[in-house]
Amino acid sequence: MSHTVTILGLESSCDDTAAAIVRDVPGVGPEILSSVVAGQTALHVDFGGVVPEIAARAHTEKLDSCVEEALAESGLSLAEIDAIAVTAGPGLIGGVLAGVMTAKGLSAALGVPLIGVNHLAGHALTPRLTDGVNYPYLMLLVSGGHCQFLIAAGPGTFTRLGGTIDDAPGEAFDKTARLLGLPQPGGPAVERAAVAGDATQFRLPRPLLDRPGCDMSFSGLKTALLRERDRIVAEKGGLRVQDRSDLCAAFQCAVTDVLAEKSRRAIAEYLTLAPDTPLFAVAGGVAANSAIRAALETVSDVSGVKFLAPPLALCTDNAAMIAWAGIERFRSGARDDMTLAARPRWPLDEGAAPMLGSGKKGAKA
Ligand code: KG4
Ligand code: ZN
Repeated sequence: MSHTVTILGLESSCDDTAAAIVRDVPGVGPEILSSVVAGQTALHVDFGGVVPEIAARAHTEKLDSCVEEALAESGLSLAEIDAIAVTAGPGLIGGVLAGVMTAKGLSAALGVPLIGVNHLAGHALTPRLTDGVNYPYLMLLVSGGHCQFLIAAGPGTFTRLGGTIDDAPGEAFDKTARLLGLPQPGGPAVERAAVAGDATQFRLPRPLLDRPGCDMSFSGLKTALLRERDRIVAEKGGLRVQDRSDLCAAFQCAVTDVLAEKSRRAIAEYLTLAPDTPLFAVAGGVAANSAIRAALETVSDVSGVKFLAPPLALCTDNAAMIAWAGIERFRSGARDDMTLAARPRWPLDEGAAPMLGSGKKGAKA
């Protein structure tokens, strides 16, 4: 018979330091007792992107206070924690190391098990934390460093149906913001600017739609956007606010079209493999974009599958998803020890061919 499990999760693989406590009660389900996220946006703002060394140092400084805050918010003491779960990759190695070392220290001091979690599994298992869905289900993981369609069939069993061959969409949003003088992270800034924009003013490409399957490409999009920006600047002597909004709207529309069509194909392929569990879920920072969420919901409706998108705070990086993935691994008997390594690259589907490219936010896996 399984017992109640309470796990402290740590996340530090990119530019958010996070700690969270999740409790899972058999027959009742999981509850997020606390979730603390300390972002680093201000530290990287002058550099136009995440600087790995600055990120690693900030994680080292912030992890302890995040843990203390997560404990205080939950009303628990360290003595009530059954295990420590930590992101052990993929991600920026300095940050991952900071988290793994903190977790090892806590695990050794408390005498509780240590569980290394794949960051992507954290995102991919979020629908089970938020909605208690059963395996298998189809997942689109779409963030600043990743973009892939996965069939989740167990806590460590994932099959990749396709993914980006170059940039991740979040990375493309961030680069677009940079090209247009908008702040980082680019996704929310581009989405805000796009509200007042007219997407039809610019014709941007829809890469790889002419090829079968559900692989994607986003790097050509930002090059096309750069060309349009330079054309406007040459013609008008500068970029007006309206031009910028129109460019943002056109860019967001192109990304949305690609994700929607590739999702339609991934769903069709998934349904041939698992017709009895028609569920499509999305997670990762880009899933916070309302135009993209709406398009994916429409595609799901048309394809006859249920659509699930976690609340925004659980779409972007957080430690509740790491604690939950830790609970799933803990219940399946998995345990790590002091030899747990930090891995910059760690594909979820170890059997699949590696995707090309490795972005600023880490390997594409
Ligand atoms: O999952 P996440 O927090 O971190 C990674 O693991 O990458 O995702 C961050 C990414 C950033 O590139 C950010 O620009 C993008 O998600 N993002 C968005 C939105 N909010 C965050 N992209 C488009 N629209 C948004 N509203
Ligand atoms: Zn992430």
